[in-house]
Amino acid sequence: MTTHKALKQWVDETVALCQPDRVVWCDGSEQEYQTMLRQLVQSGTAQWLDQAMRPNSIFVRSDPADVARVEEFTFICSKDKEDAGPTNNWRDPDEMKGKLRKLFAGSMKGRTLYVIPYSMGPIGSPIARIGVEITDSPYVVANMHIMARVGRPVLDALGADGGFVRGLHSVGAPLEANAADSPWPCNASTKYITHFPETREVWSYGSGYGGNALLGKKCHALRIASVEARDEGWLAEHMLILGITDPSGRTIYVAAAFPSACGKTNLAMLTPTLPGWTIETVGDDIAWMKFGADGRLYAINPEAGFFGVAPGTSTQTNPNAMRTVASNSIFTNCAITPGSDVWWEEMSQPPAELTDWLRRPWTPTSGRKAAHPNARFTAPARQCPVISREWENPKGVPISAILFGGRRASVVPLVNEALSWRHGTFLGSIMSSETTAAAAGAVGTLRYDPFAMLPFCGYHMGDYFGHWLAMGAKADAAKLPRIFYVNWFRKGADGKFLWPGYGENSRVLKWVFERVSGGGAAVETPIGRLPAPGALDLAGLKIGEPQMAELLRVDTEGWLAEMPGMRKHFDRFGARLPQGLRDELAALEKRLQGAGVAAGR
Ligand code: OXD
Ligand code: MN
Repeated sequence: MTTHKALKQWVDETVALCQPDRVVWCDGSEQEYQTMLRQLVQSGTAQWLDQAMRPNSIFVRSDPADVARVEEFTFICSKDKEDAGPTNNWRDPDEMKGKLRKLFAGSMKGRTLYVIPYSMGPIGSPIARIGVEITDSPYVVANMHIMARVGRPVLDALGADGGFVRGLHSVGAPLEANAADSPWPCNASTKYITHFPETREVWSYGSGYGGNALLGKKCHALRIASVEARDEGWLAEHMLILGITDPSGRTIYVAAAFPSACGKTNLAMLTPTLPGWTIETVGDDIAWMKFGADGRLYAINPEAGFFGVAPGTSTQTNPNAMRTVASNSIFTNCAITPGSDVWWEEMSQPPAELTDWLRRPWTPTSGRKAAHPNARFTAPARQCPVISREWENPKGVPISAILFGGRRASVVPLVNEALSWRHGTFLGSIMSSETTAAAAGAVGTLRYDPFAMLPFCGYHMGDYFGHWLAMGAKADAAKLPRIFYVNWFRKGADGKFLWPGYGENSRVLKWVFERVSGGGAAVETPIGRLPAPGALDLAGLKIGEPQMAELLRVDTEGWLAEMPGMRKHFDRFGARLPQGLRDELAALEKRLQGAGVAAGR
């Protein structure tokens, strides 16, 4: 077990509260992983996929009421309500703990309590952090084996008195003696995903689904870590990390923030269409970044696996993801073929018949989706054919550029470089996107999602903007990453996407590479620097000039029309909105008005 007294005491107290039948300290071994898979199959939660087609992989169906993150039931329980800010649900920590203690009391009866020590980031990296998740879900244990470094080596690194984030999770479905278990135990009516930033704790009740239950990911690596990062002067961000190598062999690293289900995994693993260029993946969802002794910003991927959105993933859109999930993977809420393999929308031509994620027979004429739109794969990062040589470098990789982006049908051009770190912070703060199925709720409505952190920032978003500005102000400006805003999703008058996306996004990455290397021609516009005519490498791409012009058009009227919405968005943060961002907004408006006048409007 462990010599860590505080850890032992917390586990003992939790056992007394939750009253499980058994307690297991996870060692992180392969044998333990196999035991979890077998158990999930025996209990009816999972089924084996065809072992020849997809070795060592299982398929799981969740309860239909437990398929996505539940932002409505996600709480930041800081002592002071103001510290949670206007974008988070807040509850008083004592009140919330009082309420949850009642729910957790006896919640694990009839079940096993697992203690999962985990490291976010390579064990021993100065940027990595340790957490311990207590859970009654073997599905969580199996997923955590893939998504983090778990078990004995983590306890060894923790030693007798190391600090750790405490995560308590229960599916909230105690099992009475001799009662039959449900294939996906959860609490259909009561869910609470709660964070106590001051004490670095997470208590999650009622859901077994990924982002609500794998506490190392969104809860620890973003909500709690964002608070630690603010306090300690680093950045915990909802960003992928990739390396781009040019034909001469020079590599730069880029971090990029996009809201959930906007193609982050695809970008992180893209196959460039430009000859001689390569992309390597460091991470697809989260970046922890700290300044190194040389003044540059270094990033690690705190995760060890990918918990990716399956629908839309295919050998055309993301061949590297398809190869990553070829074995040793867990699939959740996909459809299943008669030959026991998984299928999801756009993976391939639909098979003649399937069983859908709700166990119903399905054919291509059924008129409904076979997989849930938020169906997921969990796969080890090391299986990705383009995983970077540097992905486990404990020092991290030096970041040269940061991209922000969202899903915007209009107004926002293909790519736009910020004029400065402060302007880039402003662009991050006004990020907006059409909502997707990654969270419960309406799909396709436009919402501001600053830095793609709206559901993940563990404190007042106004202070978070201030932290970004402060990080820039204390750094050597010449060594800071340059900031870009991209939009692959702009549509033409016919409602069709103007840009082909996927591997063709390498053309935009090439321009970014050139810009940070002192080249890449740009024109200065009221919204930032756009590629100069001819600066984007379009060789071999069939795209008309009018489309390109529309992709790079600065829609002055459109931007001006968004000003009142931006002001309203900023007003939410009240006095905690940094003056620097108000100044950026005013400066943008002035530049746009000037452009409007120059154009004779
Ligand atoms: C995710 C998300 O699962 O952002 O990565 O929802
Ligand atoms: Mn994400």
